[in-house]
Amino acid sequence: MSELEGKRVFVTGSGAGIGKAIATLFTQRGARVVVSDINADAAEQTAAEIGAAGVANCDVTDEAQVQSAIAQAVEILGGLDVLVNNAGIEVSSPLLHQSTESFDRIHAVNVRGPFVAMKAAIGHLIESTGNVVNIASIAGIGGSPLLGSYCASKAALIQLTRVAAVEMRPTGVRFNAVCPGFADTAMVERLVPDFEAATQMPFGDLVAMKQGRLGTPEDIAEVAAFLASDRASWITGASYVLDGGLTASLV
Ligand SMILES: NC(=O)c1ccc[n+]([C@@H]2O[C@H](COP(=O)([O-])OP(=O)(O)OC[C@H]3O[C@@H](n4cnc5c(N)ncnc54)[C@H](O)[C@@H]3O)[C@@H](O)[C@H]2O)c1
Repeated sequence: MSELEGKRVFVTGSGAGIGKAIATLFTQRGARVVVSDINADAAEQTAAEIGAAGVANCDVTDEAQVQSAIAQAVEILGGLDVLVNNAGIEVSSPLLHQSTESFDRIHAVNVRGPFVAMKAAIGHLIESTGNVVNIASIAGIGGSPLLGSYCASKAALIQLTRVAAVEMRPTGVRFNAVCPGFADTAMVERLVPDFEAATQMPFGDLVAMKQGRLGTPEDIAEVAAFLASDRASWITGASYVLDGGLTASLV
């Protein structure tokens, strides 16, 4: 039997990048996936490419949209076993020169988004003894120049994951986070020019030195699939680092 056979899954931000890789791999492993994104065309395209169970779009900053998308997913799937909070944004800015509006925006997507989605999904997850996979980042563990508000938002997401795991342990619902290093997506492409300017180093050299190579969206989807599966039944409140050794390294 496939690792995720019959699992009913909702993935935010799955029109592109890591979310799309998660929706794809989960489907290949037997899950029925409802794709969701703020970009409706991207979501439709992903769903058509992978043969998803359906599409239920939302902007994760809008609580009513999140509630409605999760209700639609439950309707399509007949319940919910796994919520993947993947939608996230980056902002590249020296922390104390960042506008307060931009600071608020990144937290609205990266922290408040998963929070409202977990609240909307929890009743269904209790019913199925399901689980949540939150896509955090190594930026939630260590500090990086230019990513101050992003680092703060991902640290907050790791903490939401831990507290939800502890509070919900009696229900059997599991909550875990995945903390990737730099991976090959549009998000990192957008960051490259600012990183090169700040470090005075080609980004490829920085990546080679710190993490060996860029992660692939599939590397991250593999860990998410394991955490979402019954093979991880004793794992909750954990934050899985996958970064080619970046956070392990002192030099
Ligand atoms: N790429 C990396 O190196 C990396 C590393 C660590 C963590 N992450 C995290 O992985 C997740 C996915 O990142 P990615 O690299 O695939 O990014 P991406 O920018 O390539 O894709 C993000 C997707 O999320 C969607 N999205 C953006 N804002 C949204 C919103 N408000 N509501 C719903 N959907 C929205 C976008 O339309 C897009 O389809 C993010 O949470 C990111 O922080 C990425």
